[in-house]
Amino acid sequence: MDGGIDDALALILALRSPELDVAGITAVSGNVPVEQAAMNALRVVELLERKDVWVARGLANPLVRDPVRAMDFHGADGLGDSELPSPSLRPRAESALSLIKQESQGAGRRRLSIVATGPLTNIAAVFTEESDIVRRLDDVVIMGGAYGLTEYGVGNETPAAEFNIYSDPEAAKIVFESGVSLKCVGLDVTMTPGAQLSPREYATIKRSETDHAQFAAKILAKAMGREKRFALHDPMAIAMKVRPSLFKFQDYHVNVETKGEYTTGMTVSDRRDRPSKELQGQRIAVCKDAKAAAFKQVFLRRLMSR
Ligand code: BDR
Ligand code: CA
Repeated sequence: MDGGIDDALALILALRSPELDVAGITAVSGNVPVEQAAMNALRVVELLERKDVWVARGLANPLVRDPVRAMDFHGADGLGDSELPSPSLRPRAESALSLIKQESQGAGRRRLSIVATGPLTNIAAVFTEESDIVRRLDDVVIMGGAYGLTEYGVGNETPAAEFNIYSDPEAAKIVFESGVSLKCVGLDVTMTPGAQLSPREYATIKRSETDHAQFAAKILAKAMGREKRFALHDPMAIAMKVRPSLFKFQDYHVNVETKGEYTTGMTVSDRRDRPSKELQGQRIAVCKDAKAAAFKQVFLRRLMSR
């Protein structure tokens, strides 16, 4: 995760979902620098009293480019400038990369899935260092991309590219071409108005008395004051693991653009009836629809229940 508001909400959902057994959290450079991303993950871990879940720092920069930040949206602290106290927990000394490798071998544990809610830098680096890991993973679930499947499937960082893919397109290319079982949810679905948090739902969160709901209300305050709705991009990726039946997928050949003059970071999905042989990327499962109301119900219940 890359330390933004929706990353924190996604982590609350993950850690409060009995369907998941969270092995650890890897921070990556993205919305905020990697140190801050790790600190924000630790804030949530501490809030939910889940010291059993480790947090580790990954790479501080994209594979070949300069970092792209989103502090204008997420705040200088990544959490809506909410001025929360620093956590007392610390990240693990080992790097996120070596912990991902270790966990993928984890004896006794079920096969590992990776849910990526930030740029794909850490995952691409692990795949490059140890290509074998691709076969040991159950799957990789990604919040990222815009696939032209709905009217919302256009870029947000640029007209063509979604933030997570745009921030490290070379890493995304490596992951998309790795042969790993890949499931992606992009802006096509996360930006549909019905899937976003409404002012009325935000008011309910604000009224809820649990510490985690109060935390969510605080980090959302500025964004909800500014925008009409708040897109739950990253919680949706977690929900794909928690309630897979709420999401509809279709396989597409997808290529990640790394050399475009105007289109760098675009996830070029072949939606033609008869795709040609050239320009065929790996076939990946792309989310084209979600039961938005049911998704938000799961999210809000887990956020507000004791
Ligand atoms: C993605 O970009 C980030 O700013 C959010 O945290 C989310 O992961 C949406 O494009
Ligand atoms: Ca994110």
